[in-house]
Amino acid sequence: MSRSTAFRTHTCGELRLEHVGQTVTLSGWVQGTRDLGYILFLDLRDRYGLTQVSIKSDEQKAVYDQAKKLGREFVISVTGVVRERESKNPKMPTGEVEIAPDSVAILNPSDVPPFIIEEETDGGEDLRMKYRYLDLRRPNMARNMRLRSKAMQATREYLDGQDFLEIETPFFIKSTPEGARDFLVPSRMQPGNFYALPQSPQILKQLLMVAGMDRYFQIVKCFRDEDFRGDRQPEFTQIDCEMSFVNQTNVLDMFEGLAKHIFKKVIDVELPPFLRLPYSEAMAKYGTDKPDLRFDCPIVELNEAASGTDFGVFNGIIESDGLIAGIVATGCAEYSRKQLDALTEFVKQPHLGSTGLVYVKWNTDGSFKSSVDKFYSPEHLQKMMETAGAKQGDMLLIIADKLKKKTRKVLGELRLHMARQEGWIDPKKWSVFWVVDFPLFEEDEETGELTFAHHPFCMPREQDLEYLYSDPGRVVAQSYDMVMNGNEIVSGSVRVHRKDVQDKIFDILGLTAEEKESKFGFMLKAFEYGAPPHGGCAFGLDRFVMLLAGEKSIRDVMAFPKTAGGRDLMMEAPGSVDPAQLEDLGLIIKK
Ligand code: AMO
Repeated sequence: MSRSTAFRTHTCGELRLEHVGQTVTLSGWVQGTRDLGYILFLDLRDRYGLTQVSIKSDEQKAVYDQAKKLGREFVISVTGVVRERESKNPKMPTGEVEIAPDSVAILNPSDVPPFIIEEETDGGEDLRMKYRYLDLRRPNMARNMRLRSKAMQATREYLDGQDFLEIETPFFIKSTPEGARDFLVPSRMQPGNFYALPQSPQILKQLLMVAGMDRYFQIVKCFRDEDFRGDRQPEFTQIDCEMSFVNQTNVLDMFEGLAKHIFKKVIDVELPPFLRLPYSEAMAKYGTDKPDLRFDCPIVELNEAASGTDFGVFNGIIESDGLIAGIVATGCAEYSRKQLDALTEFVKQPHLGSTGLVYVKWNTDGSFKSSVDKFYSPEHLQKMMETAGAKQGDMLLIIADKLKKKTRKVLGELRLHMARQEGWIDPKKWSVFWVVDFPLFEEDEETGELTFAHHPFCMPREQDLEYLYSDPGRVVAQSYDMVMNGNEIVSGSVRVHRKDVQDKIFDILGLTAEEKESKFGFMLKAFEYGAPPHGGCAFGLDRFVMLLAGEKSIRDVMAFPKTAGGRDLMMEAPGSVDPAQLEDLGLIIKK
């Protein structure tokens, strides 16, 4: 493949020692110049890399004088001979050579850029978003875009090889619920009516299965009006997939294969077979449905080991069927008062809401120190430490709450906090696995009513179907997530393909007959015409690429992301519209 064009013979990332002596033309942006008087160095950049141009003032006076006038980000074209560098830069792929130019042509000047366009920049996040086209010139951003593109191509390669059809579904649809608010688009031709942008193509891909398409995928934008965090954007991309005539194992095998293929193709990592961890076990051992298993540190239950004293708090929790549990902080017996106070503050944060933290230190001299010394003999503390699997030099951190769920949640977050603080996570390691057997419903924390855990189209396990009618809260669904380094990357399920079951689930969710008909009538209708058993999943492409790229925010792997407030700072969207447009749509803005 050649990247040579009318403006260049080579790219700025291409020249090596083997090119020495050749006359070449390179085009790109001036990253910077260093004028030492007798020589001027110029770094020329494009998407592919950086090449040094060096101009000696005595040998190439005219070119030198011209180069002195070049500013940062000027677009130029340089023609000259490749020569070996006197002082080489082993950190740069082109670091052994430089160009001695015969001519420099300015293709377009540039204003002074508002921030440094290099790997390390002085630009704040907002400025980088406002001038996104400049930010994307930075080598790390260009690398991320390339990685993303490679992940998309690897996806197509794998799925095409498995006979999946790439089928586009519309954006102007009726709501497809995934638990967020819809973005709405007013209709001019049907005044007072709105399209909803898809939160995912969930219903449409299921209808494609009813249509006999058998294997479908799409790399597709999804739209969700929800509160944005580091790993969420209002519009994001899914690799959305569905298959017919499959059970859960078929789906997990297929998409484990896709994940492995992408890892191999994009970052040359071979992943071992994925663990399939039941949801209930994930919650009990790690306090979360997306544990980071690059380190172990499981939650240990201590109700029995902590009983038999006068400590009223723990006794009360045991009596009310609550949970006392802990994690072992290996090698942390030396923690100071200040460090312990900081941990207590951590568990008391409003979103965790724990009332306190109990610690037991097993000192290296064999003695014990604990915040509950008054109630526990050293022998009792030793028994507790041994139950937890702790050794001398370790510290046990204990949380107790009447709500088992809360004890686990707090310990799950504390486990992660300790791992980050103590450096237990090897950044070179990968932890990729499936969590399976999610509950079909969960209780809404505010109302106590049942809502869907994933979405309302997940099929209960065969053995749980009967509970739909007797005890819906205990129904386990054939649904699953793929977790990577503690992030939920994929979510999916075997779907309900029976009208009666789908109908019942809508009933449990509290939909009236009218709501069922108006929201999902077309889907229930389709199920009357021979819906095959089917299942699938969707990868969050942005999150996946973020991990592959080693970035902390999905914004860094999206070309034009939005701010946390949902704004596009470059285009200044959302913006107001012309009154005539509102008139056309029959809309009035309430002041
Ligand atoms: P779910 O809602 O879990 O499932 O989405 C699938 C995956 O998409 C990613 N994701 C997001 N990424 C960035 N910003 C967001 N706001 C955002 N929301 C979700 C996550 C998530 O795992 N229709 C089902 C899939 C299925 O059952 O086939 C669905 O959309 O990585």
